[in-house]
Amino acid sequence: MSNKLFGTKIAGIGKALPETVIKNADLEKIVDTNDEWISTRSGIKERRVVSTEETAASLAARAGKDALESAGITPEEVELIICATSLPDNLYPSTACEIQRELKCVNAAAFDITAACSGLVYGLNVARSFIQSGIYQKILLTTVDIHSRFVNWEDRSTCVLFGDGAGAMTLTRNADDQSDILYINMEADGSRGEELKIPLSGKNCPLVTPNTLQSPFVEMNGREIYKFAVNTVPESIKKAVNEAGVSLEEVDCFILHQANIRIIESIADRLAINREKFFVNLHKYGNTSAASIPIAMTEAVENNILKPSSLVVLSGFGAGLTWGTAVVRWNA
Ligand code: ACO
Repeated sequence: MSNKLFGTKIAGIGKALPETVIKNADLEKIVDTNDEWISTRSGIKERRVVSTEETAASLAARAGKDALESAGITPEEVELIICATSLPDNLYPSTACEIQRELKCVNAAAFDITAACSGLVYGLNVARSFIQSGIYQKILLTTVDIHSRFVNWEDRSTCVLFGDGAGAMTLTRNADDQSDILYINMEADGSRGEELKIPLSGKNCPLVTPNTLQSPFVEMNGREIYKFAVNTVPESIKKAVNEAGVSLEEVDCFILHQANIRIIESIADRLAINREKFFVNLHKYGNTSAASIPIAMTEAVENNILKPSSLVVLSGFGAGLTWGTAVVRWNA
């Protein structure tokens, strides 16, 4: 058995957003809030939400289709579909299996992973491991979260922050051993899981003592999550660039999980890096959880902010608690 590690190429990316736009002013009709509060506390101006029969899988499949087309890979060539989602349409089958069906990736294995807003970074690490080891050569990594079906629309402290969306990346084995992924770290602290949670309680068998049923809505300790993000992410980024053998100053673009503009600005300031280097699109979409990094990356490419050989830091953080950073080169 060879110890050779194969290089990974980020061959394509894609995004998909629902059509329906909900502006801050629209939320004033359902909760006691206003545009000024939401804008100054979070930076969010509007978000997209699914409607009628739109699903997490249908959104993710749209993003996946774009990611495959931009990589020039046919659905039949895909060997594995990974979907990072915390808000699937079903407990089973997995969202990845539904994407496989929708895109007709008939030769692909498929499974989901749950790492909330760190889903892209976790998924990238899993995909890279399969490619490095030689097990697979062509992987479709999708990310999707549809919070609009899992926030309590009567709770103004959470419902204004989230939006729905999907993102995707096509990862392939590089022709040479070079990898577009220089380094990835991923970490977790399960002891703080209660600070950001969507409980799911099935109902006990009627022949035993009933269990306590909980509503499947977002419960968040906003202040603790804020402190967690601004304290943890800078350290994760510093460690990752150091391990990647590059300096913070060499990084062309930082694409962080798009939760809150104040979190992103605070992290930029703590790293002493110009805020201009941090890509921001959360004003348009709110917090799209696992999908926020690939949506932002796709728009950074569309806007010519990422150019061939740009050095990019991708950093996710969220429920679990989980967090992680990838240092990558954009070469597609
Ligand atoms: N509109 C108007 N007023 C509101 C709203 C609202 N939507 N929500 C809360 N308020 C009120 C509160 O009731 C409170 O009023 P009070 O002082 O009379 O009690 C006041 O505003 C201040 O509330 P705080 O919660 O203290 O506001 P804070 O400055 O901490 O900001 C926020 C809240 C934006 C949630 C902040 O804590 C934050 O950004 N936390 C991080 C949240 C986050 O990013 N979560 C997701 C990350 S992980 C993931 O992506 C899954």
